[in-house]
Amino acid sequence: MNKIKKVVIPVAGKGTRFLPITKTISKTLLPIIDAPVIQYLLEEAIKAKIKDALIIIGYNQNDVINYFNTESTYVKNLNRDYEEIKYIKKLKSQIRISYVFQEEAKGLGDAIYHAKAFADGDDFAVMLGDDFVFSNGLKTYGIGSLCKLYEKKNDYYLGVKEVPVEATNKYGIVKPEKEVKDCFKISGIVEKPQDNPPSQMACVGRYILKNSIFSYLEKIKPGVGKELQLTDAIALALKKENVYASKFDGIRYDVGSKGGYVEAIISVARTRDDLGINIDEFLKKTMDN
Ligand code: UTP
Repeated sequence: MNKIKKVVIPVAGKGTRFLPITKTISKTLLPIIDAPVIQYLLEEAIKAKIKDALIIIGYNQNDVINYFNTESTYVKNLNRDYEEIKYIKKLKSQIRISYVFQEEAKGLGDAIYHAKAFADGDDFAVMLGDDFVFSNGLKTYGIGSLCKLYEKKNDYYLGVKEVPVEATNKYGIVKPEKEVKDCFKISGIVEKPQDNPPSQMACVGRYILKNSIFSYLEKIKPGVGKELQLTDAIALALKKENVYASKFDGIRYDVGSKGGYVEAIISVARTRDDLGINIDEFLKKTMDN
């Protein structure tokens, strides 16, 4: 059985839910305290033993490339070696980062198609740049959980979480073939269903895709929101291949939404003892005031 060694991280979306800050800062660079979301994503990929990352950026997103530049004038002008900079260097020694430009934000399906040369015939993982999975101390979580399943059976795996029925119109929703266990085969998938969702199981930013996805991406037409949807390509794959959905370990936050972002920061802050504050006491105090 093969193992997943490559990950594609698309971050070239417009980030309109997070305006105005996304006007000049890429959404994936928003800090969860002191490190950007993308750094946490790379840590998650490294824990999953992934060796190669392709970040899909738009033409206006040099800020993402600059973040990982540890030879910049800023770094050279620092008066000493900072642990935080050394950490980024270490991260880059554990996973090779490359970039490709998506000329126009035509949808997630189009973004993933830009990874065809990078995948080079291999199956690969996808982590969306605005879905943050908090490890909460676990060794295997997020994409790592899906990689483990793939190692046993080389199929498609979609990371899902149960969402309230009124939120199903914001996600790709899967149709379980039979009973929903931790990992279950699906017989359908629909992007942002406006009514009658096939379940409450929503795709939440972690995927293992087989290389055949590129042939399906070539066939899709603009769908919901007039965008080329990855969901539509997966729906085509389903007709010929086994596609499973699985709830993965770790706590997932939609950091592309303002509320999800605040929740993520609070969760991480509660586990940090270097901040000089007790977040629970602080929250209690703000409630008492
Ligand atoms: P989203 O739809 O959540 O991101 O795409 P968005 O378009 O930036 O968000 P809003 O709704 O305008 O706020 C999921 C992921 O896919 C990437 C996004 O950057 C995000 O990480 N994406 C989306 C692309 O890379 N290219 C696209 O054309 C669309």
